Amino acid sequence: MTMLTQRPAWRALEAHYQAIRGAHLRQLFADDPHRGERLVAEAAGLYFDYAKNRLTDETIGLLVALAEECGLRAKIDAMFRGERINTTEDRAVLHVALRAPRGAVIEVDGVNVVPEVHAVLDRMAAFAAQVRAGGWAGFTGKPIRNLVNIGIGGSDLGPVMAYEALKHYSDRHLTVRFVSNVDGSDFAEATRDLDPAETLFIVASKTFTTLETMTNARTARAWLLGALGDEAAVARHFVAVSTNAAEVAKFGIDTTNMFGFWDWVGGRYSMTSAIGLSTMVALGPERYRELLDGFHAMDEHFRTAPFASNLPALHGLLTIWYANFSGVETVAILPYDQYLKRFPAYLQQLTMESNGKSVTLAGTPVAYQTGPIYWGEPGTNGQHSFYQLIHQGTRLIVCDFIGFATTLNPLGNHHDLLMANMFAQAEALAFGKTAEEALAEGTPAWLAPHRTFAGNRPSNTILAARLTPATLGALTAFYEHSVFTQGVIWNINPFDQWGVELGKVLAGRIAPELAGEATPALAHDSSTNTLIRRYRALCGRT
Ligand code: F6P
Repeated sequence: MTMLTQRPAWRALEAHYQAIRGAHLRQLFADDPHRGERLVAEAAGLYFDYAKNRLTDETIGLLVALAEECGLRAKIDAMFRGERINTTEDRAVLHVALRAPRGAVIEVDGVNVVPEVHAVLDRMAAFAAQVRAGGWAGFTGKPIRNLVNIGIGGSDLGPVMAYEALKHYSDRHLTVRFVSNVDGSDFAEATRDLDPAETLFIVASKTFTTLETMTNARTARAWLLGALGDEAAVARHFVAVSTNAAEVAKFGIDTTNMFGFWDWVGGRYSMTSAIGLSTMVALGPERYRELLDGFHAMDEHFRTAPFASNLPALHGLLTIWYANFSGVETVAILPYDQYLKRFPAYLQQLTMESNGKSVTLAGTPVAYQTGPIYWGEPGTNGQHSFYQLIHQGTRLIVCDFIGFATTLNPLGNHHDLLMANMFAQAEALAFGKTAEEALAEGTPAWLAPHRTFAGNRPSNTILAARLTPATLGALTAFYEHSVFTQGVIWNINPFDQWGVELGKVLAGRIAPELAGEATPALAHDSSTNTLIRRYRALCGRT
C-alpha cells in the first residue's frame, strides 16, 4: 500500500500549500466576490460555510483527490456493509445501524441487525413511556421522579450532552442527573437532595467492568438500601444498559431490566444505542426517534453524496489540510447556544479517543500528524475568556462556529445579539484589522501594534434553523463521519482505544498501596513512590 505521504494528491497538496501559503483571506475574498456563496454545502438541515478557510477551489479538488486515492468511498461502503473495519478489535463498526429505519437491511456476518436494533428500541420506548407516565413505581410504591445515569466516557458524555442540548424538549417533572467520576463528590452532589424511594438508577456500561461505573453503582446500591433496607428494592430501582449480561447479573440487576447492545457499537459511538435510554426517558420515544432520524439523514448524506458536497467528508478533509499542511494543532468548538454547553466535551472523546493514534492500521509509526486537540466553550462566554489568544496569539487555531436561526427561548433581542456576535467573531478572525485601519480610527502610533489584528484565521460556520432533536442528530453524525474521514486518510483505526489501558492497570496496582494500614513496599519510580508516601502521610496512614 502506498504510504500516505507518497501519494500523488498528498505531494500535490504540499506543493499547493507552498504556492498559496502567503494568501490572505482578505485577498481571497476580494478576488472572488462570490466565494461566500460558493464554498458552502448543505444537508440534513445543516448549512456548512467553509469559505473562511485558507484555501482555494484547487485545494478542495486536491483534497477530494486525496480522499479518492485513499479509498474513502470503499471504506464508507465497508463500514455500512458491516465489515470488520475495527481490525485491532476484530469488530464491525455499525453505529449507523442504530438509527436505520425499521425496514432497512444492514448485515453483520450475514445477519440483518436492524430488527434486533428495533426490538431494543421498542423495549426502551415501553420503559420510557411507563416511567414518564408515573407507571414505574419504586419499591415503596412511590412513582419514580428521579433518574440517575451512572456511566463514564461514551456511556456518559453522549447522554449528558444530549440531555443538556435537548432539555427544552424534556419532561420537566423528571429530575435527570448524571454521575460519572469516581470522585465521590460527583455521586454525593447528584443524589444529596433526592428521595431514594423515587430514584431510578440507569447503570450504563458497555463492558460492565469499568472501575468508575461499578464503584458508583455499588455506592448507589448502598445509598438505596441504606434508605429502603431490603435487597428486593434493587429490582425496582436499577436498570442496566450493557453488552455484558453475565456481569449485569453478577452485579445483582435482574437481566429482564437490562437493555442490550452489541460489540459493533463503540463506546463513543453509542449514544444512539440503549446507552441513550436516559435521553429517551427525558424526551419521550417520539422525540427520541426524531433524534435518530436526524442522525440517519446525515448517515445517508455521508454514504451517498459526492465528496465535494459531502459535509462530513469536506469537514474531515479540511481537518487534514490544517493538521498536515498548515501545522495547526488545535480546533476550537464554539457553539453559540447555551444548551450545547457539553457538546465540546462530548466531541473531545469522539475526536481524540478516535484519532489520537500514532501507528497505522499495519502497526507502523505514522510519518505525519494525526488527531488535533479539541476544546471549546459556548459563545459568547468564550469571547470574554480565551478568544484573545485566537485573535492575537502566536498559534493558528481553527474554529467551528455552531449557531441556530431561531431561539428556543425568545427574550427581547438576546438571540440577535448572540448571533451577531457569532458572525462578527468569524468575520474578525478572517479579516482582522490592519495597522492603517487602527491609525485611521485615531489609535496613537505606539498603540497601533497592540490594536492590530492580523486576521487570516480560519473558521467553519455551521448554521441550522433551530436546535431540535433532528438537528442535534445531524450535527453529531456530521462530526462522527468527519472523524471517520480523517481516520481513513491517516490510515489509522478510529475505533479502538488501547491508549487508555496502561493508566487503568497502574491505578489498579496503586489503589491497594494507598489504602492499606501497613506501609507497603513501593517499587515505582522515586517520584511516584514519594507522592504515595506523602499521600499516606497526609491521610495519617504512615
Ligand atoms: O476508558 C475508555 C473507555 O473504554 C471508553 O472508550 C468508553 O466509552 C468508557 O471507557 C466507558 O466504558 P464502558 O461503557 O464499558 O463502561
